[in-house]
Amino acid sequence: MWRSVLPPLFSLSPAVLFLLQLPDCAATQEAHWEDYKYGRQGSDKKPFCSWKCILFTLQWPGGFCQSLDKGNLCLIPQSINNWTIHGLWPYRAMNCCSCWPMFHSDIQELEAELTEHWPSFLKTKSSFHFWGEEWQKHGVCAACVEGMNSPLRYFQISLKLRGQFDFHKLLEDAGITPSCERPYKVEEVHQVLDPHLGDKPEIQCVTDDKGREVWFQVKIPLSRNLTVGCHHHGDADGTPASWSGPGWSSSHGHPCPPQVPFYYFPIDHQHPQRPCG
Ligand SMILES: *[C@@H]1O[C@H](CO)[C@@H](O)[C@H](O)[C@H]1NC(C)=O
Ligand SMILES: *[C@@H]1O[C@H](CO)[C@@H](O)[C@H](O)[C@H]1NC(C)=O
Repeated sequence: MWRSVLPPLFSLSPAVLFLLQLPDCAATQEAHWEDYKYGRQGSDKKPFCSWKCILFTLQWPGGFCQSLDKGNLCLIPQSINNWTIHGLWPYRAMNCCSCWPMFHSDIQELEAELTEHWPSFLKTKSSFHFWGEEWQKHGVCAACVEGMNSPLRYFQISLKLRGQFDFHKLLEDAGITPSCERPYKVEEVHQVLDPHLGDKPEIQCVTDDKGREVWFQVKIPLSRNLTVGCHHHGDADGTPASWSGPGWSSSHGHPCPPQVPFYYFPIDHQHPQRPCG
């Protein structure tokens, strides 16, 4: 079948070939590409590529497993001993194209780095599956910006950002180290991190089954051009607190409360969901 149709197809333009290969979304694909290119409105008239801020979210493996409903599904690979990437999320992006599949070959050259810095911590989800979901949910929304307009570029940018934020060292230098005994105040962490982030990051905690507040995530606001800080996030409705963007459906993260000290637990590869008993 392919043999017989291939030669005539070669005379068609690449765009037409592309449409032929994606019959399910071919009808809207062309319109979507136009929208991407010109930042036009989507079909239901909401802004399409009008997002101004993008959240770079890092997670701490010592607290991550406590954010899951099913902690026993959690797995922190032996090689992971540092903050890892959760995602790069355009803030309040809408109507992103859902017909841009990502294939292994798209990001093959980054696989080793992604495995180190952007691993899945779920036994039931391969890291590639995790990356694919992040691309589908958020990458395609970011892809209307030059420099992030392919899976390869989107993941490259994310890795570059990861290299820019060495939280482990910043915190360590300030005496904030993972500990089962010593709780910290959110203000202490802000004092260390904020000067490097141009804006107040959201320091996120979960409440573990012993009622302790456990630090597991930081959301860093960036502008569209990826410089730190973004002063547009209150524009839409005046509630910067709604940074709580998309994440794991099973995560119960919330901003670490200012009055209650929280824990920065060490990573325990053997008992990832109970590093401190
Ligand atoms: C954590 O990652 C940073 C890069 O962001 C690196 O410089 C540092 O050595 C790592 N720390 C540990 C303890 O692995
Ligand atoms: C990035 O965008 C912000 C906000 O729009 C702007 O203030 C800043 O000057 C830009 N930085 C660069 C390097 O373009």
